[in-house]
Amino acid sequence: MLANCVATQDVHRAYGGVVPEVASRAHQVNIIPVVDLALKKAGVVKEDLSAIAFTRGPGLLGSLLVGVSFAKGLALSLGIPMIEVNHMQGHVLAHFIEDPKPNFPFLCLTVSGGHTQIVVIKSPLEMEVIGTTIDDAAGEAFDKTGKLLGLEYPAGPIIDRLAKLGTPRFEFPEPNIPELNFSFSGLKTSILYFLKRELKKNPEFINEHLNDICASVQTRIVSVLMNKLKKASIQSGIKEIAVAGGVSANSELREQLIATGEELGWSTYVPKLEYCTDNAAMIAITAYYKYQKGEFVGQDIVPMSRYAL
Ligand SMILES: Nc1ncnc2c1ncn2[C@@H]1O[C@H](COP(=O)(O)OP(=O)(O)OP(=O)(O)O)[C@@H](O)[C@H]1O
Ligand SMILES: [Mg+2]
Repeated sequence: MLANCVATQDVHRAYGGVVPEVASRAHQVNIIPVVDLALKKAGVVKEDLSAIAFTRGPGLLGSLLVGVSFAKGLALSLGIPMIEVNHMQGHVLAHFIEDPKPNFPFLCLTVSGGHTQIVVIKSPLEMEVIGTTIDDAAGEAFDKTGKLLGLEYPAGPIIDRLAKLGTPRFEFPEPNIPELNFSFSGLKTSILYFLKRELKKNPEFINEHLNDICASVQTRIVSVLMNKLKKASIQSGIKEIAVAGGVSANSELREQLIATGEELGWSTYVPKLEYCTDNAAMIAITAYYKYQKGEFVGQDIVPMSRYAL
């Protein structure tokens, strides 16, 4: 890995969430400088490249279009092939950027701003989703709770930090969802009603108990994730367990994963933080496996906002 450059769009913070139109405009502004920076950092010129990889989906169509169109132009001008990558496959294969790498087959809990999935990975390019959310993603559960609490977006890292200063003394119900699937919208509603009830009695309730509320919410989100992951491991008999996506930065999830792993004899894998959140290296490593198999696409390729693994 020669360079892994990230252009973060802080512009969304003021809106309390990602604004699609603003995101694609910022992509248009950023894409040439960030590619240029990556080439400089890597010490290569574009004529040295052997293929161009890009994210085809899932994601916001406007943002994907910027990337796909740029990749088409660059590949065409250099006369080299293009490789399309599924963003969620990238999150899983982030484990192969550096050692230690999981052994096949392994289970990956991918928890991000838009997804919550348990995936069985049989080989680099053979994976199957065995559990998914039927409504909100785990990251959304953190962010939407944060909004109710008046925290900035994205609230996940803030809740993580405040939870360390509190105790999880408020009980929120664990959703009863069949199989290996998840649901977080009920949790959000129960937090909303809990806050309304308590604020009626004491208008300062959030300010006075913020750390404990954060600890309670985080404990519930993490327990939901861990219970399903345990179930998936028992059902599949797989004890190589990985996590991916932005929420895997969560310190309680990391602690629980290690503790449960020791208890159940798992080998656990958590990538470095910079490979957990969205990054280009995870797209490149996926493309590396596809390149070896000659899986290229033509200029007729189109982005897909919904794109199943
Ligand atoms: N320490 C943390 N604890 C909890 N959540 C966190 C933490 N750090 C980041 N997050 C959450 O991770 C999410 C962002 O992750 P990521 O960048 O992987 O998502 P995304 O790329 O927007 O979504 P997707 O990959 O599904 O399209 C946000 O919801 C954020 O609140
Ligand atoms: Mg992502």
